[in-house]
Amino acid sequence: MTTRVLFVCLGNICRSPLAENIFREHVRQAGREGEFEIDSAGTGAYHVGDSPDRRMAATAREHGLELKGHARQFRQFDYDEFDWIIAMDASNRANMLQLARDNNDLAKVQMLREFDPASTDPNRIEDVPDPYYGGSSGFEDVYQIVERSSRELLATIAR
Ligand code: 4NP
Repeated sequence: MTTRVLFVCLGNICRSPLAENIFREHVRQAGREGEFEIDSAGTGAYHVGDSPDRRMAATAREHGLELKGHARQFRQFDYDEFDWIIAMDASNRANMLQLARDNNDLAKVQMLREFDPASTDPNRIEDVPDPYYGGSSGFEDVYQIVERSSRELLATIAR
């Protein structure tokens, strides 16, 4: 059986393409490529068709990861196409929940940092911070958060 995982941010050029590519690498390292379909999308339409952000791609490359793919917008049909829909922040999550048709759709949406092993407060799920308007250190922070959370997400799905 295939497990279908979709990562979602706002623009689909920074955080969610990174999460998609890191998660795919973790799946590959686990020798489980055939078991997953992995994609990413943005709740906004501003960057549809664009390649990943150059700054995000440069940070990923420093870690030996090549970011692939082009931005597309999240759509209601994604609820039929995916089993796990992983929001990068609370705003992405709220935007997707507005498109949910029933409880089954609602239950698919989770925040990436629910799986962050470095999160300290179990009552408050943190955002993956939007690095778009910030400095370059934001991209490395995003990389570290996504890397460790993606590992735990895969472990959770495997359970
Ligand atoms: P992302 O980052 O949601 O991680 O892809 C952003 C990309 C573009 C914009 C905002 C965030 N934007 O406002 O254009």
